[in-house]
Amino acid sequence: MSRILLIVSGGIAAYKALELVRLLRRDGVGVTSVLTDGGAQFVTPLSLQALTEEKVYSSLWSLTDESEMGHIQLSRAADLLVVAPASANILAKMAAGLTDDLASTVLLATDKPVLVAPAMNVRMWTHPATVAAMATLRGRGVHVVGPEEGAMACNEYGFGRLAEPAAIQAAIRSLLHHASLHHASPAAARPLAGRHALVTSGPTHEPIDPVRYLANRSSGRQGHAIAAALAGLGARVTLVTGPVGVPDPPGATVHRVETAEQMLAACMAAFPADVAVCAAAVADWRVAAQSSTKIKKTPGGVPPTLTLMPNPDILATLATAGPARPRLVVGFAAETDDVLDHAQAKRTRKGCDWIIANDVRPETGIMGGELNEVYLVTASGVEAWPRLPKSEVAGRLAQRIAEALDVAEALA
Ligand code: C5P
Repeated sequence: MSRILLIVSGGIAAYKALELVRLLRRDGVGVTSVLTDGGAQFVTPLSLQALTEEKVYSSLWSLTDESEMGHIQLSRAADLLVVAPASANILAKMAAGLTDDLASTVLLATDKPVLVAPAMNVRMWTHPATVAAMATLRGRGVHVVGPEEGAMACNEYGFGRLAEPAAIQAAIRSLLHHASLHHASPAAARPLAGRHALVTSGPTHEPIDPVRYLANRSSGRQGHAIAAALAGLGARVTLVTGPVGVPDPPGATVHRVETAEQMLAACMAAFPADVAVCAAAVADWRVAAQSSTKIKKTPGGVPPTLTLMPNPDILATLATAGPARPRLVVGFAAETDDVLDHAQAKRTRKGCDWIIANDVRPETGIMGGELNEVYLVTASGVEAWPRLPKSEVAGRLAQRIAEALDVAEALA
């Protein structure tokens, strides 16, 4: 059985650590927990103990704890250390190597991989001190999931929300798998082991001149969550992403591109793949004649005219790639009217196997939001999924992909 040492530090998001424990226990992962003084302001040792079914550690100076299990041993008995939520304080202590409580001491003493799930106010997250601490930690190989963008408990908006428990679970699965630590895990936890998944995500930027470009509002959240979920199920994942502000998903190899043409080239270079999921919001057009110098305002004030030309359709190209075609090709359809009719027509037109369709009228709050409500459109019909966090849509889709590839293989 894999084992996690879960460090719960202070913050309003600490309650989500309890849901994370439930998900991990369902995966058959053993969870030992350390609760900081700050964490204990938000969740009780009793609730953690009830869910983990294990003793909760909190003091560096407890003689009983030290005689049962010293802090060095505690730091090494797990396969992976997870700090969720990770407050600005604990991240700063980790970066500086401070050890003034049990949590920071085990983090310094460990020889195991560490995953942090930051959660804090947006100004604390963007403060140069936190930015520098995160750069130091990433440079040392600490894995990071989240934070996500959204409304905060303190009535501000921005990056700083703890990643959804399902997203942290996916990151943990992926790290346990990739570090070959998931020794005793049942094959069911890694149904995509040995498969290669290609995912596109984010917008594309189409240059007008060296300083200006055409773009769209895609955040990359859903595509990145899908890449994380596929990696969590054991797939080797290549993520080709346009410019986004969301962090790299753990466990995926990330290729950053700007334009649709670069995205297509990076996808073709990543072939062969067992499955391709095209979640990117690729710009439909690019500027026909980019200017190599900044276009100047004319004295008469006549604005320039941009002539556009179509971009390659990446989904359609991958879906019609002949013998190299991935066995399963999945596209997205964001629609504002007649969602299902358009999605079904798109599935046929693009030659893909599945379409994930959703209604992106502004009043649905889906575009750029936390939740998604989708239909899965396949050759055999339409399934309506409930409104779910994007990470859970990703998890369900990854599971369905694993099942479909198994069926396809059995029939081949
Ligand atoms: O045609 P439309 O943009 O509505 O199709 C959406 C689907 O097609 C998404 O899966 C998107 O990733 C993909 N697409 C693409 N290349 C394009 C346009 C869309 O891969 N140039």
